[in-house]
Amino acid sequence: MKEIFNGIFRSEKKLYTKNLVPGARVYGEKLVNLAGTEYREWDPRRSKLAAAILNGLKNVPIKSGSLILYLGISAGTTASHISDIIGKDGLIYGIEISERMMRELMPVAEKRSNIVPILSDARKPEEYFWIEKVDLIYVDVADPQEMEIFIRNAEKFLKSGGFGMIAIKSQSIDVTKSPEVVYKQETTKLKRAGFTILEQIELSPYQGGHAFVLVEKC
Ligand SMILES: C[S@@+](CC[C@H](N)C(=O)[O-])C[C@H]1O[C@@H](n2cnc3c(N)ncnc32)[C@H](O)[C@@H]1O
Repeated sequence: MKEIFNGIFRSEKKLYTKNLVPGARVYGEKLVNLAGTEYREWDPRRSKLAAAILNGLKNVPIKSGSLILYLGISAGTTASHISDIIGKDGLIYGIEISERMMRELMPVAEKRSNIVPILSDARKPEEYFWIEKVDLIYVDVADPQEMEIFIRNAEKFLKSGGFGMIAIKSQSIDVTKSPEVVYKQETTKLKRAGFTILEQIELSPYQGGHAFVLVEKC
C-alpha cells in the first residue's frame, strides 16, 4: 500500500482511504486491515474522483483539515472518502436537493462529524449564506447549468487560490452534441469566468461520457 496523495493509498489497481470510522462501511465497500490500520476500498465505478485518480489525475488538493463545499453530495459515497482524507480537523458542507438522498446521507453524517448535510438547492447559494469560505468546491449535480452553479458558488464561497473539482456529464448538458464538444464548451465558460484549468481527465471506462476538471481560482 503506497500513499500517492495526502490520505489516498494505492495497491496495484485499487485505491483506498483510511477509515475515519473503523468497522463502518458506507456503500458496501471492502474493508482491509493492515498493521492495525483499517482502509476502505474506493470504487472508481461509484466515485468520479476515484475514476479521475486512476485515469491519471496529477493533483488532488485535499488534505487533513481542508474545508470543502460539496454540491450534489447525494448519499455520501465520494464525500465519505473525502471525509477520511480531511479527518476530524476538516469539514464538508454537503448540499443536496433531494430529500430521499438526504435521508440516505444522514446515517453517514451522524457517524462522521466532519460532514454537515444541508438540504438545499445549489442554484440558490443565498439559502446557505452562513457557511464559511472553503478551500475546494466539488461539483457533481448532473445539471445543464452545472458550470453556472459552480461559478456562482465559487464567487460566494471559494477562497482566493482555492480549487474546483467538477464532474461533467456530457448527456446532462446537451445530448445532441458529442462529449468532446460539450467539454470544450463547458471549460470555455470556466476560463471566461477567470478560472485556470489545471487538468481535464476522461473517466471511461469507469464512468462513460464524463470528464473531470480541476480548476484554480486566481
Ligand atoms: C450524480 S449524483 C452525485 C453523486 C455523488 N457526487 C457521489 O459521487 O457520491 C448527483 C446528485 O446531485 C443532486 N442534485 C441535482 N441537482 C441539484 C441541485 N440543484 N442542488 C443540490 N443537489 C442537486 C441529485 O439529487 C443527486 O443526488
